[in-house]
Amino acid sequence: MNFITENNEQLSGQQRSGTNSGMIIFPEMPIKKICGIGAGYVGGPTCSVIALMCPEIQVTVVDKSKDRIAQWNSEKLPIYEPRLDEVVRTCRNRNLFFSTDLDTAIMEADLIFISVNTPTKTFGTGKGRAADLKYVESAARKIAEIATGDKIVVEKSTVPVRAAESILNILRANHRPGVSYQILSNPEFLAEGTAIEDLLNADRVLIGGEDTPEGHAAVEELCKVYEHWIPRKNILTTNTWSSELSKLAANAFLAQRISSINSLSAVCETTGADVSEVARAVGLDSRIGSKFLEASVGFGGSCFQKDILNLVYICECLNLPEVAAYWQQVIDMNEYQKSRFSAKVIESLFNTVSDKQITILGFAFKKNTGDTRESPAIHVAKTLLDEGAMLHLFDPKVEEEQIIEDLTHPTVTDCPEYVKSRVTIYQDAYTATRDTHAIVLCTEWDEFKTLDYNRIYSEMMKPAYIFDGRKILDHDALQKIGFIVQTIGKKLTKTTLAGSWDS
Ligand code: UDX
Ligand code: ADP
Repeated sequence: MNFITENNEQLSGQQRSGTNSGMIIFPEMPIKKICGIGAGYVGGPTCSVIALMCPEIQVTVVDKSKDRIAQWNSEKLPIYEPRLDEVVRTCRNRNLFFSTDLDTAIMEADLIFISVNTPTKTFGTGKGRAADLKYVESAARKIAEIATGDKIVVEKSTVPVRAAESILNILRANHRPGVSYQILSNPEFLAEGTAIEDLLNADRVLIGGEDTPEGHAAVEELCKVYEHWIPRKNILTTNTWSSELSKLAANAFLAQRISSINSLSAVCETTGADVSEVARAVGLDSRIGSKFLEASVGFGGSCFQKDILNLVYICECLNLPEVAAYWQQVIDMNEYQKSRFSAKVIESLFNTVSDKQITILGFAFKKNTGDTRESPAIHVAKTLLDEGAMLHLFDPKVEEEQIIEDLTHPTVTDCPEYVKSRVTIYQDAYTATRDTHAIVLCTEWDEFKTLDYNRIYSEMMKPAYIFDGRKILDHDALQKIGFIVQTIGKKLTKTTLAGSWDS
């Protein structure tokens, strides 16, 4: 599906609104029933919070995956998010329902959120950069097939600019007589691990719609849903394309800050500056602000890389190569940071990890989630496996099958069995670190800060190394215990036995 017209033309207001077809008369329709298509990290928490805050609205979350829906209806939800259990328990089977019956939910809904996955394309034009909209397209086709009444269709998935137009084209090309659609863009800004908090206390809600009376009416209906708990002044309304681009821009800006501080972490390690001190000094400038300046092993997650690649691709399509190169550098710096960290682990361990026992603490892309998409831990683990290491892994929330899946598809060696024979997954940090040469900390889980490192040290091989990829541990205390410690963005004073961090 192409999101940019071949000649890069902007469509006129009339073309956009579809009023020339004569079919769109969009009456005011208060929202009584909502359908959320896609019960994932975005759709599940978002619809659950809407159900919590709007008790008079019936919210049905549908997914094509029977397993996923069964989990949403069980005691163990398919995703881990702090406070999500509590919200779901309050609303489930009251005004919140999880179902595989897409047809009924679509048919009955006044408003439909599309929150399906939009991975980066792995084939064809735009491979490795453009968003693959096949799931969005399939959801739109399903709506067109089923809907018999007017619908407001809200794009929630992160999508390229002008995706709303594609959805609109599918719906209007396939609409039944008498059915009209309004397409809104309502990007989700929640971060995993704080999703419920972010939804309940959103800095802003952004709603983009067509600049037509019907478009405004639909925007107004969605505003009314959010106004149940978000002050009106925090609900921004824009045209559809501004809304779509704002989501990509927000993620690009956030990722850019991390890449900026990570680039400086390399300078710190060779100069003796401490990146945490630099971040603090820089962040106290109120024009800059202190958030998203934590240097780390690299950013992960389902959004940052995908959205920036998407932005890069859009810029290339718009013949803006300088802009594309500018944003590509944010990704390149992230790759550099992950590789740099992995290389330092190997270099410090006498330049070989072949058959060495190495513990990886944390596999999720950040704390308080079980999500591993684009997790820097995958990069680190694969590099170490490629170098012949034996890995001992522990993460408090990532399932064993997920770790194996991430490390075997695609594999570094083209042989999943080889990977499986070299990876052991543990249920706690103490057994995961026993008899190993080094600990590589990849996720900033709070519980890693308070482990009994005296006990861990006594049970590890010597010299015992810790590589803190998140800067969360007490490095002085660890050095006093006897560990050789390496971290990001800081040259530690105690000399290492092997090659030095800053060589
Ligand atoms: C992000 C955006 O924050 C959110 O608004 C959007 O809706 C989806 O993408 P998410 O990916 O869930 O959310 O988590 P986020 O907290 O942004 O962290 C992303 C990555 O950056 C993580 O790997 C995190 O560890 C890393 N990070 C974050 C840093 O390395 N340093 C920081 O200072 C902040
Ligand atoms: P996100 O992080 O964007 O929420 P997820 O992968 O966690 O992405 O969730 C997306 C969900 O959307 C998955 O559970 C997937 O099964 C579902 N899905 C994808 N396409 C469709 C579709 N056409 N109809 C129904 N559900 C779909």
